[in-house]
Amino acid sequence: MLHTPFQLPCGAILQNRLAKAAMTERLCRADQLPHEDHVRLYESWAEARAGLMISGNIMVDRKHLESGGNIILDDESALPSLSRMTDAGKKYGHHFWAQISHSGRQTSVLVNRHPLAPSDVQLKKMGLFGKPRQMTEEQIETVIRQFVHTAVLCKKGGFTGIQLHSAHGYLLSEFLSPRTNTRTDQWGGSIENRARLLMRIVKETREAVGAEFPIGVKLNSADFQRGGFSPDDSLQVIRMLHDAKVDLLEISGGTYENVPFSGE
Ligand SMILES: Cc1cc2nc3c(=O)[nH]c(=O)nc-3n(C[C@H](O)[C@H](O)[C@H](O)COP(=O)(O)O)c2cc1C
Repeated sequence: MLHTPFQLPCGAILQNRLAKAAMTERLCRADQLPHEDHVRLYESWAEARAGLMISGNIMVDRKHLESGGNIILDDESALPSLSRMTDAGKKYGHHFWAQISHSGRQTSVLVNRHPLAPSDVQLKKMGLFGKPRQMTEEQIETVIRQFVHTAVLCKKGGFTGIQLHSAHGYLLSEFLSPRTNTRTDQWGGSIENRARLLMRIVKETREAVGAEFPIGVKLNSADFQRGGFSPDDSLQVIRMLHDAKVDLLEISGGTYENVPFSGE
């Protein structure tokens, strides 16, 4: 069965049931563009012939990085080098998707002393993260546009789909959790409100990339913290994503406060 094709709701077909999950490459030089090292890396991964490969997180905003070595995709200048990387990953005709992400309050203090977040709840870990700024409505609308813009650039750069990173305590996951989202407006409180940002991005990305381009989401089953995003919350978001016809859901768990996903 692992070697049989799998059709996604958008119509795209994965050639087999094996997928490589996102692993941050941290290979960029100061220009934050895909480098020849990315080309070599994905040429090598392509040899495994997994039906789907997902890139490490590609950032939508240059002030919010998971690491200084991340690819930032916010304008067309990256497209020539990106195409070399995506061609390498698609060498045998398999799917190669971009994971797109905004690091929110989990942005290193070396990158941004006051990163944007749903609320000003600081991640206290050895002084590595600054006090975040609670986002205004306008900043939330800007982030929606940034995700959509990056998704469109990913399509232009040769990726065959995208995955929205809504797990592991980054911005979209912060909105989902009542520990990090204490807002009392339409973006906080009920699970419908906490999921509003993710669902707006799914909807507007779909409108921008078209009906036949795969959109996936990575979501926590829970963040494994008291008072945080719970398994019940997760099930409700999964229903919303199902209704929105998301093509593929990857379930993970944890945040920087409880990190089972790092392999350590
Ligand atoms: C070196 C390394 C880098 C990773 N980078 C990312 C990443 O960029 N994006 C992401 O969503 N997960 C990343 N992960 C987490 C994995 O994709 C995956 O979620 C993790 O191995 C745990 O598996 P699980 O999610 O099935 O529990 C990384 C894991 C490792 C070991």
